[in-house]
Amino acid sequence: MSQPDFFSADQAVIEATLEKLLPAESTPPATIHQAMRYSVFAGGKRIRPVLCYESARIFSQQLDAAATVGCALEFIHTYSLIHDDLPALDNDDLRRGKPTCHKKFGVAMAILAGDALLTLSFETLANANVPPDRRVRIIAEIGRAAGTVNGMVGGQVADVQAEGKPVDAAALEYIHRSKTAALIRASVVAGALAGGAPDQDVARLGRFGEAIGWAFQVVDDLLDVEESSAALGKTAGKDQAQKKATYPALFGIEKSRAFAQELAARAHRELDCYGDRAAHLRQLADYLVVRRA
Ligand code: IPE
Ligand code: IPE
Ligand code: MG
Ligand code: MG
Ligand code: MG
Repeated sequence: MSQPDFFSADQAVIEATLEKLLPAESTPPATIHQAMRYSVFAGGKRIRPVLCYESARIFSQQLDAAATVGCALEFIHTYSLIHDDLPALDNDDLRRGKPTCHKKFGVAMAILAGDALLTLSFETLANANVPPDRRVRIIAEIGRAAGTVNGMVGGQVADVQAEGKPVDAAALEYIHRSKTAALIRASVVAGALAGGAPDQDVARLGRFGEAIGWAFQVVDDLLDVEESSAALGKTAGKDQAQKKATYPALFGIEKSRAFAQELAARAHRELDCYGDRAAHLRQLADYLVVRRA
């Protein structure tokens, strides 16, 4: 299964919005803006912004604000990748098919580019064209998802501390739900909030996002084993080399695949009540588990 047909149209909207939101390369101090743009435009799949955008579409035809919120999520995601690749974390040389930010600009600039993208994300959210009460809820959701309590940074801490150590299923679940599912869940929730969804729907879409976000990281682990660096645009086989806590390491390939599919089915059930309105989110959920990069 290839990308859903609406995916490239959504990506084009996101690319254009990212372009508008990022300072020009020539803006002083130019080096940091070059580094930020280098990593943002290195060629990510834009899954979080597309999820945000398509979640909003269930409730609204006015999607400009959801695109802006999606870009804010992509800034946080790109920051997390820049820092994930640093020598002190996963120590990676290749990201999105290019040398990592620190390989190209040095460690100091890579740290600062990550800091700057995180900060730009919240500035972008504060200025998004969403009614103030919903805007504040979006900021709180994304702040929590990127943070230390069941959020991305907390998951990264556990991931680093688990290297080379035996982990059980509960510890692995904590790592994956925190480091990856939390931000994917927040992407879907933020889209629903930007689209004007009632609270009950925000909660339902949160459960959908949690399930596909968890599946997403299980698949990321599988692709690290199964695919080449050329296909992934990042170094393959790295998790085993670094003794990372992953689903294939704990459960094997087959059980991990089956678990990702079970999570996708769980996600699908949350969408039953929306009928055709959630067709795009359903296709995204399917694509996220069968993707090869
Ligand atoms: C990679 O995320 C890191 C994880 C959280 C698994 P993506 O697979 O979304 O990376 P890009 O944005 O497409 O490069
Ligand atoms: C990264 O997990 C999750 C983040 C929060 C960045 P990985 O370390 O598995 O991501 P990749 O495989 O380097 O993209
Ligand atoms: Mg990592
Ligand atoms: Mg990594
Ligand atoms: Mg990985």
